Amino acid sequence: MSMRHFLTLRDLSPAELRQILARSIELKAMLKAGERHTPFVGKTLAMIFDKSSTRTRVSFEVGMAQFGGHSLFLSPRDTQLGRGEPIEDTARVLSRMVDLVMIRTFAHEKLETFAAHSRVPVINGLTDLHHPCQLLADLMTYMEQRGDPAGRVVAYLGDGANNMAHSWIEAASLMGFTLRISTPEGYRPDAGILAAVGDAAQIVADPQEAVRGADLIVTDVWTSMGQEEEAAERRLILAPYQVNGALMARAGPEAVFMHCLPAHRGEEVTAEVIDGPQSVVWDEAENRLHAQKALMEFLLGAQAAERM
Ligand code: CP
Ligand code: NVA
Repeated sequence: MSMRHFLTLRDLSPAELRQILARSIELKAMLKAGERHTPFVGKTLAMIFDKSSTRTRVSFEVGMAQFGGHSLFLSPRDTQLGRGEPIEDTARVLSRMVDLVMIRTFAHEKLETFAAHSRVPVINGLTDLHHPCQLLADLMTYMEQRGDPAGRVVAYLGDGANNMAHSWIEAASLMGFTLRISTPEGYRPDAGILAAVGDAAQIVADPQEAVRGADLIVTDVWTSMGQEEEAAERRLILAPYQVNGALMARAGPEAVFMHCLPAHRGEEVTAEVIDGPQSVVWDEAENRLHAQKALMEFLLGAQAAERM
């Protein structure tokens, strides 16, 4: 068995993804019951952050602490990465000392290069192209709230070309739901990522049509990290895709609302929706912790099996 990394959601088979989601729910229950579970004593996670983070950093750090392990926060400001040490060399060095690496960066290729030179599993903590850890938490949250998403309809509104849109596309094909993406011309998803999932994900130009009868409404920021210069233009072009009360009223009667956060009330979502009764965003944020603990167990378990 080759080294297991988690660079995109499709690094997992449908069965493995379901196994991790089931384990996430189990780990959450164990924690709430006050049960100590420390499988990572003596293990270390290195976390490289080229971009800001609240949820990802805290959930990985707390998850490692609860598992009895240790985590290292590494930023380019105070490591040699910021002074031009090649990513390949950093991967070779770090992976001789730590047991797992998480990376949040800009170009997805940088993550792939790191993984190609790493002796230990590498986790995508967000790149410009994918945000698969967030999807673990989102799918877990839907399961807790409404059961299995298979056969359901999810509507994603807003920037169709960002990391969240791409990870939702991959989730649709792995979990067997239909994803309707409503986004303007010029903000459409990566053609290759879309084509790879067949008809699991569809572009529905009219946002009113996209949300009609949907079981889950999702959006994300209009301006992702690294796109700040385009913010004014994006606010104009993406305005018709705002998730507001009128739009939510067209969704199915049991529909829930998700957003990976941070959110901009009055832009991609109104306060009445994100702070309203259909919103599950706080459970979604908490579930980052439980889902990533299950992911880390899975990856280190897979590595242990490889060494046997
Ligand atoms: N949703 C998410 O990844 O949040 P952070 O940017 O705070 O980590
Ligand atoms: N699309 C957003 C997600 C933040 C968690 C970004 O990349 O900034």
